[in-house]
Parts: sequence; structure tokens; C-alpha cells
Amino acid sequence: MTVASADPMTEQRGEEAVIEAGSPGEGADSDYEPIELDAESANTSITSSLYKHSYENGRRYHVYRDGKYPIPNDDIEQNREDMKHAMVLELTNGKLVYAPIGDNPQKVIDLGTGTGIWAIDFADKYPSAQVTGVDLSPIQPSWIPPNLKFLVDDIEDDWVAGSDYDLVYARNIAPVVKDFPKVLKRAYENLKPGGWMETGDFSADVDCDDNTMKPDWPLKVFWDRVQDAMAAFGTEIRIAPRVGQLMEEAGFVNVRKKVFKVPVGTWPLDKTLRLVGLYMRTVTGDFLGAAASRPFRKLGMSEEEIEVFLAGVRKALQTEEVHCYGRYYVWSGQKPEGKGKVVGV
Ligand SMILES: C[S@@+](CC[C@H](N)C(=O)[O-])C[C@H]1O[C@@H](n2cnc3c(N)ncnc32)[C@H](O)[C@@H]1O
Repeated sequence: MTVASADPMTEQRGEEAVIEAGSPGEGADSDYEPIELDAESANTSITSSLYKHSYENGRRYHVYRDGKYPIPNDDIEQNREDMKHAMVLELTNGKLVYAPIGDNPQKVIDLGTGTGIWAIDFADKYPSAQVTGVDLSPIQPSWIPPNLKFLVDDIEDDWVAGSDYDLVYARNIAPVVKDFPKVLKRAYENLKPGGWMETGDFSADVDCDDNTMKPDWPLKVFWDRVQDAMAAFGTEIRIAPRVGQLMEEAGFVNVRKKVFKVPVGTWPLDKTLRLVGLYMRTVTGDFLGAAASRPFRKLGMSEEEIEVFLAGVRKALQTEEVHCYGRYYVWSGQKPEGKGKVVGV
């Protein structure tokens, strides 16, 4: 398997690099100003019949293929997803894609587009491309670039969104779909020969390089429970390190990866990583309620048990003395130029 060479900005944040911790209190959260996003034109293709949602435990969920994705689609979750996008852009020095797709891609699909924030940025940056964002939830904005459209569909089914893609992009999708190999098979079938598939996924775990984190650290236990709960829904939340192998099994070639350490909290010395850590702490904290609503109840935890457990996790998230981090995996793979592998039906 090939490991892509890193650019200097991201190399220092690569898989092996140990994140240097700063002194407590160094780098206040107020160092950072929010960046304003703007959309450029109105153009959407979502039909109104799919604008329905269901409600549970005070949270809102998608209705198309009801219950398939057990995480809410309400404003809290949408803001969290947009913050994750900002965090990934900080981590990757603003890179939207690592696959070598050239400057003029023609057809691009964003699987499980969520709020559509990656697809909007991509369509803005590559006006040559016709971009399609697909999701179970009709939560995308209507003010979007003219070369972008959104569709409600299940990416595990046969795709209604056409074929001959130059790029199939799927960020934070492998850990949440029931059958990711099937999604890879669909991607392979619908790519042009020579086209690229790219994924980006978090490890859903925390690690530590300087022994400041004990094995029973509440944040680590939290991710273990999320893993169990998501497994009960039939998804493998910690699939990220295996995606390259699955790509190769699906017939992709030139498979390459990049791995980034993602600190939780503002403990790193490096200013960019402190910002990444601030985002990571916030998106993790904002995920606790989503995890409590459907996933933890699926484990049979009572409301009181969940409350007590999450109080410990919240406290842990505020602790700067524990230097823990997650990982973010980017995998890219190419459909062979020639006949390639005949993928089984
Ligand atoms: C964690 S979010 C990621 C959103 C987006 N890719 C991003 O990174 O900003 C996962 C998204 O996948 C969608 N999703 C999950 N399973 C799906 C499926 N089978 N078909 C289409 N969308 C799906 C969910 O509705 C949700 O919007």
C-alpha cells in the first residue's frame, strides 16, 4: 500500500509526530475568530415531498428510510457538522481533496453530504465540475453554487445520481453506513476508468503519547460505548484504519492514506493544533446529547445512568492536563484505467 507524500504543513501533524503540549493556560480560546461562510447563488433540486422529519427525546431525525441513521439532523447536529468541516480544513491546511483529480474535474458526487458544506466549497473551487450531494436528510441550503445539486437518496441502493464520475467523495460515511463494502462497490461501478474515490473519517477513539491519559479515562470509555451502541445499529464506527484494505478488495488501485492526529482540547503548543483541539473538544461535547438520544438507549442505559455517565465525560473534556487525541484518516483509491477488476454482484 502506498503512503502519499505529505506537504510540509501537514507533515508535522502526521501519523507519527508527537504533538508537543503547551503550558496550562497558554493560548486562550479567544485567540480565534469565527470565519464567515457565504453562498453564491440559488439552485436546488430537492423535492418538497421529502421535507419531513421525526422527533424523539427532543431531537429531530430523518424520515426517508426512517431510523437508518441514528444521529439527529436538527440545528445542533448541523452546526456540529459544519464545525467539523472547519476543523478538518484547519487540519489539512484548507485541502478539500487529496486524490490527484487535476484542475478540471467534470463529475463529482458527495455521498452522505450532510449540510452540503464540503460540496458547496468544492463546487465553488472547481467551476468545471457538476457536483451532486446525496443524503437521507433534506437539510441542505437552497443558496448554492449553480454547478451543485442535492438529492435525497440512500447511497447503499443503486444510485439514481448517474455514473461516469471523476471523483466519489465520502467523508464521515464509512463509520455510519451499514454496508460500506457495498458503497465502495457502487462507487467503483459509477466511476470513470481512472476516476478516484476518497474518504475522510475519524477514529472514534482517543489515544495519548505521554502517559497523561489512564485507560479508564471517561472520554475513552465514552467512545467504547459509542462503538457498542453503533454496532447495535449495524455500523462499524472504528472502520477508518481498514478503509484502504476495503478499497483494494473492491478493486481500487493506487490506494494511499494520510493520517492526522486530532488533539482534544487546547493543550498543544502549536497554535493551529490548539484551534483544532478547541474545535474537537466542542464537536465532541456537542455529540454527547446525540449519542444519549438513540445510541445509548439502544444499549439499555436508563436516562439517569446516561446523565451520570455524560457528566463525567463533560468534566473530562475540560481537563487540559490529559493530552489525548483522536485520528483522522484520509484514504484515496483509483479505479483502474483499463478493464480493472470485475467486481462480484
Ligand atoms: C456524519 S454525517 C457526514 C456529513 C458530511 N459528509 C460531512 O462530512 O460534512 C453523515 C451523513 O450521512 C448521511 N447518511 C447516513 N447513511 C446514509 C445512507 N445510507 N444514504 C445516504 N446518506 C446517508 C446522514 O444522513 C448524515 O447526513
